[in-house]
Amino acid sequence: MVFIVKQKIKGRDYYYLRESKREGKKVKSICLGYLGKTRKDAEEKFKNFIKQKEEMSKKQEKITKEPIKEQVKDSRQAHSKLTIDDKSKSIQSIEEIATFCKKKGFVFSSSEIYGGFSGFWDFGPLGVELFNNIKQDWWNFFVQEKENIVGIDASIISHPRTWKASGHISGFSDVAVMCKKCKKSIKIDKSEVGKIKCDCGGDYEVQGEFNLLFKTKVGALDSQEAYLRGETAQGMFLDFKSIVQTGRVKLPFGIAQIGKCFRNEIAPRDFLFRSREFTIGEFEFFIHPDETKCELLDKEHLNVKIRFLDAETQLKGKQELKETSIGKILKEKRLGEWHAYWLAEQMLWFRRIGIGMNKLKIREHTKQELSHYSSATFDIDFEYPFGSLELAGNANRGQYDLNQHIKESKEKLEIFDEKTGKNIVPRVIEPTFGMERVFLSVLSQAYSYDSERGNIVLKLPSKLAPIKAAIFPIVKTDEKFVKFAREVYNDLKKEFNISYDASGSVGRRYSRNDEIGTVACITVDGQSLKDKSITIRDRDTTEQVRVKISELRDIMRKVVNEGESILSFGKKVNTRVK
Ligand code: GAP
Repeated sequence: MVFIVKQKIKGRDYYYLRESKREGKKVKSICLGYLGKTRKDAEEKFKNFIKQKEEMSKKQEKITKEPIKEQVKDSRQAHSKLTIDDKSKSIQSIEEIATFCKKKGFVFSSSEIYGGFSGFWDFGPLGVELFNNIKQDWWNFFVQEKENIVGIDASIISHPRTWKASGHISGFSDVAVMCKKCKKSIKIDKSEVGKIKCDCGGDYEVQGEFNLLFKTKVGALDSQEAYLRGETAQGMFLDFKSIVQTGRVKLPFGIAQIGKCFRNEIAPRDFLFRSREFTIGEFEFFIHPDETKCELLDKEHLNVKIRFLDAETQLKGKQELKETSIGKILKEKRLGEWHAYWLAEQMLWFRRIGIGMNKLKIREHTKQELSHYSSATFDIDFEYPFGSLELAGNANRGQYDLNQHIKESKEKLEIFDEKTGKNIVPRVIEPTFGMERVFLSVLSQAYSYDSERGNIVLKLPSKLAPIKAAIFPIVKTDEKFVKFAREVYNDLKKEFNISYDASGSVGRRYSRNDEIGTVACITVDGQSLKDKSITIRDRDTTEQVRVKISELRDIMRKVVNEGESILSFGKKVNTRVK
């Protein structure tokens, strides 16, 4: 039950909104917000609050009750019927996430003033921070923290012969089909022509085969036809020789990069999931072709638990998942040791950025669907609101690409092997990540509606959150508070992306920050001026602790970089507004 209460503070009236709830045998009462200084104001705000709450609960009810459609939108979706945890509070539609992203400044459709441009998106002020943090953590995990991986940033347009050699000009195409019954067009893989039906039951009619590479012209006079890269991987193969000559690398080693890729998708859809311009984070890991042992593979990797969809099950037209482990699929000889090691490392990174292992599955490619360059591929699929679909992949590219470039360029793309004293062409394992898809899965995992608070809370891991702290002066009109709060802000700003928030009631400021995932709300109050302390509120629990300002930077470092809980740094304080 919610109700208005009046409190007298220093002889003046203040009105608050409180809610009481029965918890077991006790009735707990919490303050939901400040309503003003007069009864009239309070009643007005109370009415608005009730109206908003009703609208939110209707919306929430709709979201939770609405059955998630099993839309077979593309070839991969045929393999990936959604399994939903019914208890999850965070079920949402992709439209809801897209609307949220636009409203809060995470992602806008590109060229919106011209009506948008299908398949192209812009990251807004909060989105770019979140996306940069994800990319930075990927780089830290796979490049900085690994002894055997170096990074590059290759050009987006490379010599056009690159794409002839790689097989993308002849083999990188999708088939466009239209359903004879409902007339919906989608793209399918070549291997699926004649094998799959539309979700309405209709047969597909082939409209044509389309190469996914974007063409462009380079130079004004005597211009040359070139391509925007369709994958970042070719940059690593083209730079292999330079890195071997200059980088003091020894086998086994990897070359990584994160960068923009372009694919002229037939049917871009599902917000950022399938676009025409997107970001891949991937690395090519070069291994001696005869080396089957991976010294880095340890118990932690073997014990990674996975939900697995094998090729045989899919060939029977079934989707049943097996609860297994990386160690077990290695024993079944579905992949080699290096392949297993990197698949496990991919899962470990997902775990580190807060992706629930129960939301992921590993899907083995059937022989018919393997890319032209791969002899074994595994997809890592995430349970998006629109289906369990590919988030990342891991392919055994063997010696395919280096051999192709050796043939086309007539260059020696070899490395000296100290063990055998010979120059060899290494084989390659390629872990790949669609970075916008990672962004979408992080958002979708973090997005939850808190019915008690009456707002969305974006429970992002601290290191990924776009804004690490918001500084509030509790009284925004008193210069003493403002000066103090500004000092705290200016100091913390040197190290973290933070905001200064002095508009609206404290309750409103909390909910605004909860919605964008701000890790800590730091309040400067009366006591701050006396003993140089502030309160820090933990986003996920709404609990607050009081700490010394002199310790604030260090605390924030531990919270943001090491994931420590804000609540472990001080004594809990009781506050009226949660
Ligand atoms: N070098 C290997 C490679 O490019 P891929 O599976 O074609 O493999 C890599 O693409 C990753 O890029 C995929 O795992 C997927 O997450 C992402 N991806 C592919 N097409 C995409 C698109 N149109 N929009 C957004 N992400 C895409």
